[in-house]
Amino acid sequence: MSYYKIAILPGDGIGPEVIKEAVLILEEVAKHFHHTFEMKYGLIGGVAVDKTGTPLPTETVELCKNSDAILLGAVGGPKWDQELSHRRPEAGLLGIRKTLNLYANLRPVTLFDALLHTSPLKSENVIGTDVLIVRELTGGIYFGTPRERKNGENGQEAIDTLRYSEKEIERILRQGFQIAQGRKKKLTSVDKANVLESSRLWREVADRLSYDYPDVKLEHMLVDNVAMQLIRNPRQFDVIVTENMFGDILSDEASMLTGSLGMLPSASLSDTGPGLYEPIHGSAPDIAGKDKANPLATILSVAMLLRHSLRLENEADSIENAVKKTLEAGYRTGDIGFDWERVLTTTQMGTMVRSYLKSPVQNG
Ligand code: NAD
Ligand code: IPM
Ligand code: MN
Repeated sequence: MSYYKIAILPGDGIGPEVIKEAVLILEEVAKHFHHTFEMKYGLIGGVAVDKTGTPLPTETVELCKNSDAILLGAVGGPKWDQELSHRRPEAGLLGIRKTLNLYANLRPVTLFDALLHTSPLKSENVIGTDVLIVRELTGGIYFGTPRERKNGENGQEAIDTLRYSEKEIERILRQGFQIAQGRKKKLTSVDKANVLESSRLWREVADRLSYDYPDVKLEHMLVDNVAMQLIRNPRQFDVIVTENMFGDILSDEASMLTGSLGMLPSASLSDTGPGLYEPIHGSAPDIAGKDKANPLATILSVAMLLRHSLRLENEADSIENAVKKTLEAGYRTGDIGFDWERVLTTTQMGTMVRSYLKSPVQNG
């Protein structure tokens, strides 16, 4: 029996809906494996702006710092799209990532066999997809300064800065190499070195580090080519490591190899301190409040939380197995299944996964 503190940040849109199911899963795991998960809720995003005037209240930061792990839903929505940049919901998410130094974002892209025929791509192309995208999460154009609007000679000018230090590049690349060592030992470093100075530095550092990991095969690939290769032949990839914005875009693209954006979980990790776990999707304003969202990305993020932050491997496996069984039994939410007669709501999907968690044998 063990005791863990988990911060729960539901956020906006479908965030609270998918988090509700994920929390019920955590409660089921606690019962089944005799753990105590003390869950405390915090505000982040638009809901925090509305209640406190800021997307990342100090209490939320304190709550996260005092937890063993953090589970987050999603932030943002049209209601806050006209806010000043520091009051946008997204600033809350970027703020917590930066404050906790969560520089390594792991986004596994794994196709469940049961969903082979649900990808919009041909099954013979997506079969066997198992890619891990390692996205740098606290640097690059998301955080570089100057970042401003000003009056120029031809009307307003807007400036964003893509900046990376050697140290930032090195630490994320080392994560990529080490993770590849535990997998198929192939690392694809993605950049735009034919154009960007930051990418040329990135490539130099990758080449230098590769001597420390002689068992890993390093390849460099330009990001535009990767965007195409992911669709053409995803099986060629094992671990992909890349900078912040490329990783953001490629992971949404790669999600469709698995059938839906609603399937991809993520872990955001630092060298010390709590990890943050969240689905890679957003707040989905178009379906929010309708009990339609796919909760599996968030439920699978719970599995990542148990594995990476709490070191509860069996518990993580049990969740992934329950999801697998649920999909094998033919249950789907609307984003995946086109058979609308049989489509499950968010709540029903969560209930179904829990039923396989409760009695894996009888249901299996
Ligand atoms: P989105 O990921 O919210 O939605 C894109 C499309 O995918 C929508 O059609 C949506 O209905 C669908 N979708 C997403 N998740 C789904 C799920 N679990 N089940 C079923 N369908 C799902 O991206 P967007 O529409 O570009 O952005 C909406 C808002 O979300 C914006 O404010 C954006 O900033 C924010 N956002 C937040 C995060 C985050 O909190 N980590 C991530 C991405 C976008
Ligand atoms: C994600 C999201 C965020 C990002 C936004 C909401 C700031 O798209 O987590 O993928 O771009 O990192
Ligand atoms: Mn994104």
